[in-house]
Amino acid sequence: MNPVIENLLTRRSIRSFQNKQIPLEDLELILKAGSYAPNGMGLQAWKFTAIQNPDILKKVDNVIRQVILSSPVENERLIERAKDPNHNFLNNAPTYIIVSHLKDSPLAMADCALALGNMMLAAHSLGIGSCWFNSLPRMTNHPLVRELLTELEIPENHNVYAAGVFGYPEGEIKPAVPRREGIIKIFE
Ligand SMILES: Cc1cc2nc3c(=O)[nH]c(=O)nc-3n(C[C@H](O)[C@H](O)[C@H](O)COP(=O)(O)O)c2cc1C
Repeated sequence: MNPVIENLLTRRSIRSFQNKQIPLEDLELILKAGSYAPNGMGLQAWKFTAIQNPDILKKVDNVIRQVILSSPVENERLIERAKDPNHNFLNNAPTYIIVSHLKDSPLAMADCALALGNMMLAAHSLGIGSCWFNSLPRMTNHPLVRELLTELEIPENHNVYAAGVFGYPEGEIKPAVPRREGIIKIFE
């Protein structure tokens, strides 16, 4: 099979990671693949922030925890996890990538999703697992998150639209579930 198609068909979301860092060379390739994603009007108005520093990863985990604990609308399961000091909201992944973009751009979500998609596929081709984690994007407007984004040099006029964990997979990787019937229609 064409190796690009095979890479597309075999990528799975990975949520358990080995305690082994992604080499910088591979991280740079993954980020480069993201930067070559299609983007509205070719503006490249996004920013990719990759974190491998353990102290900063811990800080991100802690901000997510604090936001969940301070929000009245969170679900019980998440609150229980947030109260558990052993739970890590980045699944102890060694690398975390935040994709941000202009707050008021109608292109932002599409641009960022395509960029992170490219990165996840590039990672898979290098034997590296990944998963989109929606925790930070969905709380991007919270003041504690904004404070964190500022520390990470993410511009004040940016929101987080996509974020993912990356690392070498740990444990069994199950094959993809069969694709649903009826989702594809071709008019010849
Ligand atoms: C927009 C988006 C948000 C997602 N958010 C999460 C998430 O917060 N946590 C998680 O474990 N997986 C998340 N995922 C991963 C999906 O659950 C996963 O892609 C889906 O179940 C299909 O599995 P596969 O990627 O292995 O094919 C997200 C995926 C997308 C595209």
